[in-house]
Amino acid sequence: MTRDVRAVVDLAALRHNLAMVRAAAPSSRVMAVVKANGYGHGLQETAKALVSADAFAVSCLEEALTLREAGLLHPIVLLEGFFDSDELRAITTHRLDIVVHADWQLQVLERCRLQRPIRVWVKVDTGMGRIGFQPERVGAVLERLRACSAVRQLRLMTHLAYADDRRSPKTEEQLALFERISAELGLERSIANSAGILAWPATHAEWVRPGIMLYGVSPFVDDGPRPELRPVMTLSSRLIAIQQFRRGDTVGYAGSYVCPEDMAVGIVAIGYGDGYPRHASNGGPVLVKGRRTTILGRVSMDMLCVDLRGFDDVQVNDPVVLWGAGLPVEEVAAASGTIPYELLCKLTQRVRFEYRDQHGES
Ligand SMILES: Cc1ncc(COP(=O)(O)O)c(C=O)c1O
Repeated sequence: MTRDVRAVVDLAALRHNLAMVRAAAPSSRVMAVVKANGYGHGLQETAKALVSADAFAVSCLEEALTLREAGLLHPIVLLEGFFDSDELRAITTHRLDIVVHADWQLQVLERCRLQRPIRVWVKVDTGMGRIGFQPERVGAVLERLRACSAVRQLRLMTHLAYADDRRSPKTEEQLALFERISAELGLERSIANSAGILAWPATHAEWVRPGIMLYGVSPFVDDGPRPELRPVMTLSSRLIAIQQFRRGDTVGYAGSYVCPEDMAVGIVAIGYGDGYPRHASNGGPVLVKGRRTTILGRVSMDMLCVDLRGFDDVQVNDPVVLWGAGLPVEEVAAASGTIPYELLCKLTQRVRFEYRDQHGES
């Protein structure tokens, strides 16, 4: 038996979640966000399963080229545009679309001569406080871009900073600001991330940009209802030992768990060296043979320990699910003081990825 740390990616679930995007935003085109290796699920595999999306969004040229190598001919948007003027040649050759968010990019476009002009999404900072032009500058920026021979079509994009909280008034403020500067321009626009798609219909506009919901994860941080999405990744391993500890025995590094009674403790072959969060120590949820229990003691590099009280029927080699089907990654993230995005993106090379479609075949 090899060390069986596995992420099974359910491609049918990806397609289901894309259908949920279409149902929630029926009048918008869908730019599927597959950056960061498809949120850790595998860039090419994810994008191929999402072939019916209208476009893809990635964070850099390398990711876009990986999609072109996979034979995907969709529009691909570089969400941070180019990082260096040297990238412009490849951007034109591979017909990529760019976000322009900074003055230095504007100046490069004004100076450059390209064989084929590029489609540009102008990024507006309506309250995210990250990249983008301030709203009052948008008119002047558009004017300068219209004068560039390197630019062929202009669109507008902004990003929501608070949409994951369905009670926050900030999304409406961002939207009102964006409307004020863009309503009369007649340009295609994109505002909504997953939370915008699901909770803020007024943000849908011509293009939506779903990321996390495609992977079956709720974008919300509030305690409202969880959307009916299907988890795409199931991370699992196996029990490699079952120890019978005595009352007062300690579990793992620094003895941070002290057994309150004589009890069985299971040792699972997964740890932070695989990308499992160390902050889930002492209390993180897991499923052992389909039943829920908790992590005892500290998560170590290759192993973690789980409470097997009441699990008399389990044996070495039984499966343990760390997140996915039956255990939302949102719960593991909450127990680790982080967000599901981070957990999904952070799995390491040691995890074996398996891709399954509807009928379970790889
Ligand atoms: C500019 C932009 N648009 C869309 C998304 C997708 O967001 P989400 O994964 O919350 O749907 C992201 C993700 O970080 C982003 O940076």
